[in-house]
Amino acid sequence: MSHDDFPTDNPAVVTCGLPYANGDLHIGHLRTYISGDAYARAMEKLGQQTAFVSGSDMHGTPVAVNAEKEGVSPEAFAMRHHEKYAETFPKFNVEFDNYGHTHDETNTELTQEFVRSWVEEDHVFEKEIQVAWDPEADTPLPDRFVEGTCPYCGAKARGDECDEGCQRHLEPGEIEDPVSTITGNPAEYRAREHKFLRLSDFQEYLKGFIDRLEGTSNARNQPREWIEGELQDLCITRDMDWGIDYPSESDEDGDGTSEEDLVLYVWVDAPIEYVASSKQYTERVGADTFDWEQVWKAGAPEPGASDEADNEAWTQSDTGEIVHIIGRDIIQHHTVFWPSMLRGAGYNEPRAVMASGFVNLDGDAFSTSRNRAVWADDYLDEGFDPDLIRYYLTTTGGFQQDVDFSWEKFRERVNGELVGTLGNFAYRSLLFAARNYEGTPDADTSEEVSERIREAITDFEDAVNDYSLKRAGDAAVALAGFGNEYIQRNEPWNLTDDDPEKAEQVIYDCVQLAKAVAVLSAPILPGKAQTLWTQLGEEGSVHDVPLSGALEAPPADFGEPDELFEKIEDDRVEELNEKLEASVQAAADAAEEDADESEDETVTDESDTESDIDIEPINDDRISFDEFQDLDLRIGEIEVAEPIEGADDLARVEVDIGVETRQIVAGIKQLHDLDSLPGKKVVIVANLEKAELFGVESNGMLLAAGEEADILTTHGDSGPGTKVR
Ligand code: MSP
Ligand code: ZN
Repeated sequence: MSHDDFPTDNPAVVTCGLPYANGDLHIGHLRTYISGDAYARAMEKLGQQTAFVSGSDMHGTPVAVNAEKEGVSPEAFAMRHHEKYAETFPKFNVEFDNYGHTHDETNTELTQEFVRSWVEEDHVFEKEIQVAWDPEADTPLPDRFVEGTCPYCGAKARGDECDEGCQRHLEPGEIEDPVSTITGNPAEYRAREHKFLRLSDFQEYLKGFIDRLEGTSNARNQPREWIEGELQDLCITRDMDWGIDYPSESDEDGDGTSEEDLVLYVWVDAPIEYVASSKQYTERVGADTFDWEQVWKAGAPEPGASDEADNEAWTQSDTGEIVHIIGRDIIQHHTVFWPSMLRGAGYNEPRAVMASGFVNLDGDAFSTSRNRAVWADDYLDEGFDPDLIRYYLTTTGGFQQDVDFSWEKFRERVNGELVGTLGNFAYRSLLFAARNYEGTPDADTSEEVSERIREAITDFEDAVNDYSLKRAGDAAVALAGFGNEYIQRNEPWNLTDDDPEKAEQVIYDCVQLAKAVAVLSAPILPGKAQTLWTQLGEEGSVHDVPLSGALEAPPADFGEPDELFEKIEDDRVEELNEKLEASVQAAADAAEEDADESEDETVTDESDTESDIDIEPINDDRISFDEFQDLDLRIGEIEVAEPIEGADDLARVEVDIGVETRQIVAGIKQLHDLDSLPGKKVVIVANLEKAELFGVESNGMLLAAGEEADILTTHGDSGPGTKVR
């Protein structure tokens, strides 16, 4: 089903991935919250009724681990962070309609209701599994209490996620070579009874869902692999005290054994906070203003309905528009687990998932635990306006692209676009108008200018419907750019004496353009747009004005404006870089020390070197020389390399292998500058069976090493077609 364009008659909810209440916020986290806020404001600009909600993620082992380190209760620890977050967001002009937390009553009740529905519909079963156990502390080791090796990619993995490798969710028992984070000892595996949500029940449903899902292409494509393969059931309980209790009333098997000690896995109650937070918003403002049930429940098929009935139900459109904004690390949770959870409890499905790229430093992810980040507080302490980082994070590259944070780039974008284009245009227009006419001159908008504003409005509307914040932001700045060009072209300062009427008309146009810029930039630059709005002599809030307000007549009177933005000087950047380098270095030194320490601690036999831990073991299954000869490996030369649209990692390459040119699909798109590849020599498997990926035929395979797809090449002058032996 294709959805109606925004704005629809339905209420919408925009949510942000909940921050774990376990540390300081950095600007990587802020990418989720600023994008969410900007997108919610942009929807409202279109006239879409929108609630913007989130909350703190209080449970889970990261919180328990850190609270234990500090020697405080998890609840006190999490509450302290929750309160800090609730204070921090408004400082970045991130204004939630409701910001709750997962430990509150609303979420606890709703979570237990969800679980009861799954139990009633027979989606939950009990199974004995092997869980990591600390033999010395004699305690189970859920999630983050255990570290080891990812069974899928061999990277170092922490608990339930492979956060430094393939990003997969890891089920209890999956992590290899488990080590307890409590005592540092190797962990054992012991048998325990746990509850599982049978995800395979939702496989057919998920196939339909993923075709309906809107948002960014990474969120729509990545899950296909999981949904089309065998779906692993989700362990929904943990051996812990901190969390929401598994609802024991649903213990119908009457064995009364484990339920008491089990809490729900944090990824059960966390997304349910999206619903709980919406509900709290309704409780505050009344269902006439915002009805959470219409968004989350109206029109949803009954939990037990067949998938056909279900698919039909989704074609109805009297429900709500649910848009989730997250970072790319939690796509699987939002496109596989979460829709199954909703479906199993008779709730509506998300309309869109927008998964942003990461904010990195020198190519590596930020890390809270490793103190390697640009912290939200540090940014504010430097005295920078929040709208600058909002602009930087929402419009540097596409939404899915990773952004390497650098102060140079930050300064470049602020000085170039905000100071040079937007600020400059607004200031010179309003100053000229105030000095010569004490406000807006007596005239009308020209056809050229109103046409250009209409075009900007359309660009903005299309951007919101395409889930592109960058294009929404660009629409406002491009309009200001047009304004600057319009002033240069018409030179009003030369007209005031010779052709006063024309001068009035030109300046009227400029004031109109400035008003339109205020309206269009409000979602991304909420504070600055409001300042401009007030400078224009407008009353009230620019955030209450719909897009059509951009074309309405500006007020007749206003005084001289102040400059909206301040230039960032070169030496400021140097100073900021020094600070950042020092703190990253300190973090790296600390990490190295840690590594040294843990090396000292391990009782090693000689072969147990550090590098053994990261490198996949050599396959013991020997093959014969004949078997090796079956592989036809050839030298090729890349002729063409281009991205495959809609596929995140894949590129289409044409490789000359002497006898012919082969088309090959290779997973190298994000890791290489494709334009630099033609002319490069490569090694290919020439006799691999053909395959089709994203509708493109792949006739062979290009060899590359490791996670970074380091492409194999030659070092002599063997030409295309040469056999590799
Ligand atoms: N608590 C979970 C989300 C539960 S949602 C039902 C979580 N918390 S988090 O604190 O680790 O991350 C909060 C948000 O910030 C997530 O959307 C996450 O993707 C995002 N980011 C965290 N670090 C990031 C970067 N370095 N860059 C971009 N976004 C990142 O995940
Ligand atoms: Zn992995």
